[in-house]
Amino acid sequence: MSLQKLDIYHVRNLTQVSLNPSPKINLIFGANASGKSSLLEAIYLLGRATSFRAKQIKNVIHFTYDDLTVSGQVLFSTGHVSQLGIQHKQGQLEIRIDQEKKHSRSDLAYALPLQLIHPKSYQLLDAGPQLRREFMDWGVFNQYDDFLPQWRHFKKALSQRNALLKTKRTKELNVWNHELQQYGTIVADYRKQYLAELTPIFLKIAAYFLQVGEIKLSLLQGWDNQTKLIDQLQADLEKDLRYGFTHSGPHRADFQLMIDSRKAKDFVSRGQLKLLMLALKLAQVQHLLNNGFQSGCILIDDAVAELDFSSRTKLLEFLATLDIQVFITATEKNEFGDLNQISDYKMFVVKQGVITEI
Ligand SMILES: Nc1ncnc2c1ncn2[C@@H]1O[C@H](COP(=O)(O)OP(=O)(O)OP(=O)(O)O)[C@@H](O)[C@H]1O
Ligand SMILES: [Mg+2]
Repeated sequence: MSLQKLDIYHVRNLTQVSLNPSPKINLIFGANASGKSSLLEAIYLLGRATSFRAKQIKNVIHFTYDDLTVSGQVLFSTGHVSQLGIQHKQGQLEIRIDQEKKHSRSDLAYALPLQLIHPKSYQLLDAGPQLRREFMDWGVFNQYDDFLPQWRHFKKALSQRNALLKTKRTKELNVWNHELQQYGTIVADYRKQYLAELTPIFLKIAAYFLQVGEIKLSLLQGWDNQTKLIDQLQADLEKDLRYGFTHSGPHRADFQLMIDSRKAKDFVSRGQLKLLMLALKLAQVQHLLNNGFQSGCILIDDAVAELDFSSRTKLLEFLATLDIQVFITATEKNEFGDLNQISDYKMFVVKQGVITEI
């Protein structure tokens, strides 16, 4: 699918914007504070009903107004056109799809699947494991419908066990150890399967962007591979009781990216780290497309900074091969890469909240 028309009212400094984006690549440039990220934020609001920068939507509303509206026309590959709208007014959020009021964010997410790559995404490989777990689980959730109930069982067992550890009620631990063993192993197996499917796609994209040694992606499941989770929980009991929480399990999972048997994050350059992150995120998109999922939009904010011209061009060329709509920002017109290598793109300039196609 693609957004073929977009109307934005009162999102940050965008008081009123109307756009007809390209179904393929949209290049958006403008000075600092012109409104580029606000445009991506508006599209994200339309697809997710949340902001990627503000905790509350009310902070996204233009200072001099008390409501915001984003609406869009989405063209599906079947030829069907859907009208999406989101409005925040008097503290209330209203979602509409084809004039019908909807109550769930997932209705939107289905109508306008989005992937976001923005400056925080770069922490994927060099910050703590939380972001990497979220990355894996986003992929797993989208790929396997039956993951969510299993994951909920696991979360419940974990919080029950932690509550018992805090109050030192050891007698009741056994039942939750078994629950954790059952659902924790299922969660870990889903992640393992997902990474196994993602890896060849990732390796291909990484090889396209970078020339480095042998890359390996491996899951750290959150406890020793050779041990059953229940045995690990028994072995950890004293430590768990002392600190009042469960030390081992899928909630401690991570994945590791090695190049020639060294941890990539410890020695690759900033630019290489960015390219590896891009390759991971794009592999995730490619994996979903390969599995027949509805294509959507990729929003790429400020992502080309720190990449050399040839890498930027490669990124554009790669994006052009995907069956997906792209919105990508930069501060200067000539920063996107070699535009002769792509067709089917539109370029927009942003000046003080006004967006014009050029
Ligand atoms: N609630 C708001 N109401 C009005 N203006 C706002 C609001 N929140 C932020 N702004 C302003 O909107 C302008 C555009 O911000 P935005 O982050 O979209 O800029 P940008 O083009 O992405 O800049 P950069 O290149 O620095 O990332 C900024 O001047 C910002 O201060
Ligand atoms: Mg910005």
